[in-house]
Order: sequence, then structure tokens, then C-alpha cells
Amino acid sequence: MQVVVNAAMSADGKLSSREREQIAISGPRDFDRVDALRADSDAVMVGVGTVLADDPSLTVDSERRRAERQARGDPADPARVVADSKLRTPPDAGVLSGAAETVLLAGADAPAERATRLETAGATVVRTGAEQTDLSAGLDALEDRGFDQVMVEGGGELIYSLFAAALVDRLSVYVGSLVIGGRDAPTLADGDGFRSDFPELRLDGVDQVDDGVLLEYTVE
Ligand SMILES: NC(=O)c1ccc[n+]([C@@H]2O[C@H](COP(=O)([O-])OP(=O)(O)OC[C@H]3O[C@@H](n4cnc5c(N)ncnc54)[C@H](OP(=O)(O)O)[C@@H]3O)[C@@H](O)[C@H]2O)c1
Repeated sequence: MQVVVNAAMSADGKLSSREREQIAISGPRDFDRVDALRADSDAVMVGVGTVLADDPSLTVDSERRRAERQARGDPADPARVVADSKLRTPPDAGVLSGAAETVLLAGADAPAERATRLETAGATVVRTGAEQTDLSAGLDALEDRGFDQVMVEGGGELIYSLFAAALVDRLSVYVGSLVIGGRDAPTLADGDGFRSDFPELRLDGVDQVDDGVLLEYTVE
């Protein structure tokens, strides 16, 4: 399975403001590239922090791409996957709207009544790990469901954990031409930070897109 992380950050490395408000970092051409990457993926994954902050629906925007997916026998949208140890996703969240499949990767300790409520709202709850979702086991469960490519859209806590568990294959970062600032604003990789054994990247491409830069890396 390929795990592809895609995110947009400001020139100072922030994913959003210190209030965790979504900021328009990229422009129309990059939105279209992200839509194409979604359409090429079997699942689109975020952490529950992103669900609570942005309430995204994570669906494919382009009707042409939706039709192409269906023509090859896939659902119009990839599955939505949320790393959500305690099942904090609200039952009326955007990731549960529409016909696309939603998988919540929960910890074993997540309350059963929340699981029941979210399953009633259409989610599939997969339990891995105990207090916190075990991402490696969670991705194995996705592979067992036949998913070959998982696109991870953030946020910084989830991206850090995926790097820490050596689960990332490719990284695409759009660097927008703005400064957001704030020591508490989310960055591309938050978590505890590495002290040594920093994940190393191979730079595969640099492209100017809109008024920013797209950096494409393979994780070594
Ligand atoms: N610019 C961009 O491209 C972009 C993309 C996405 C998000 N964002 C921004 O990023 C911010 C949200 O990022 P965030 O870092 O706060 O949240 P996040 O990474 O989306 O979610 C983090 C949460 O995921 C849950 N989780 C479950 N298993 C985990 C694991 N093994 N490791 C780490 N987390 C795990 C944890 O909550 P539990 O302990 O409850 O499970 C954790 O608090 C928002 O402000 C959003 O706007 C920006």
C-alpha cells in the first residue's frame, strides 16, 4: 500500500492559524491537483483534529473524475478515513455526509455508545490499539479492505505520527506565499518532534503552481 501525505503550508511552515482556523493557502490550480490526487486514491485520511476544526467532506469535486472512477468500477468518491481514538467525530460531521464510505479508526477503549451512534450515522468503526489508534494496524485493516493508495490530508499531529511509525511513502507539500506565524499554530509535523533519526526525504520535483511552490518528495 502507498501512503501519500499531501498538505498546504505557509512559507513559515504553518497549516492553519493559531486559532486552528482554515486559511486559503493554495490557489485554483493546486485545488485541482489535490482533487486529482483524491480521485486517484482509494481512501482519504485525516485526524479527528481536522474533522473538528474544518469539518471537511473529503469528496471529489470534479464530475468528470467522479464519472471516471465509476466507469472503472470504483465508487464516485474514495472512502473517508478518520484517525479518531475516542470517537470524537460528531455524527453530523461532513465526513459522514453523502454516499461515500467512512471508516473511523478508533482505539479499543473508545466508548461503545459513541460507536453505535456513529455506525447509525453510516460509519464503519475499526478498533486498533488501545487508548490511541494504532496507525500501522489501522492501515493494515485498510489494505485488507483492498485499498492500495491512501492519501493523508493532515493535520500536523497525524502526519507526525505517521512519520514516527515510518508509514509514509510520499510527501507533497504546497508552500503558499504567505506568513501565518504563531508558536501554537499547527505545522506540517507536530507531535513530540524527532530527537534523532530524522526521516529523510528525496526531492523528486519542484514546480511553481499558482503563486506558490509544490515540493514533491519520496520518503527514503
Ligand atoms: N493546510 C492543510 O493542508 C491542512 C490539512 C489538514 C488540516 N489542517 C489544519 O490542521 C489543524 C488540525 O491539525 P491537528 O494536528 O490539530 O489535528 P489532526 O492531525 O487532524 O488530528 C489529530 C488527532 O488525531 C487523533 N489521533 C488518533 N490516532 C492518532 C495517532 N496515532 N497519532 C496522532 N493523532 C491521532 C488524536 O485525537 P484522539 O486522541 O482523540 O484520537 C489527535 O489529537 C486544523 O487547524 C486544520 O485546519 C490543514
